[in-house]
Amino acid sequence: MKTTVLTYGTFDLFHHGHLKLLTRLKALGDRLIVGVSTDEFNAGKGKKTIIPFADRIEIVQSIKFVDLAIPETDWGQKARDIVAYDVAILGMGHDWEGKFDHLGSLCKVVYLPRTEGISSTQIKQSLGYFDKSHLSDLKASLDTISSIIERLR
Ligand code: CTP
Repeated sequence: MKTTVLTYGTFDLFHHGHLKLLTRLKALGDRLIVGVSTDEFNAGKGKKTIIPFADRIEIVQSIKFVDLAIPETDWGQKARDIVAYDVAILGMGHDWEGKFDHLGSLCKVVYLPRTEGISSTQIKQSLGYFDKSHLSDLKASLDTISSIIERLR
């Protein structure tokens, strides 16, 4: 009998922390199902992504060891999916530690360590350094430095 592993996430600006988590989850079983949160579900959580849902789920589904990517639309879905897909293990990153223990009556619940030093939030912050307003701040600083150097000559 196949062991099905299930996980959920937003997977915005897909990065190697996501890939490592999915690799480790797949190693726990035979079949990996990934729930990708929709833009509407994220909006309800006050979360806005850079990459729209259709592209995020396409990226996740393209990973060769992801057997199935499904939309995640509401908080109650996990319990329904565990039953519907005959899930043996629900696996989440450490940031969710303890949050889904109540699903332990339906399947095994595990929390895996996150990859250090990378997150979608961090990438978004880094991209912010290159947006127009930051570039004009940078230019203003360089102009100030240039004028100081000019005066010192
Ligand atoms: N994850 C991970 N290691 C990272 C980042 C994420 O293992 N460095 C895991 C999370 O724990 C989660 C899954 O990847 O189980 C999807 O996480 P998601 O929230 O989409 O990614 P983050 O990069 O954490 O995004 P954000 O910064 O918006 O929270």
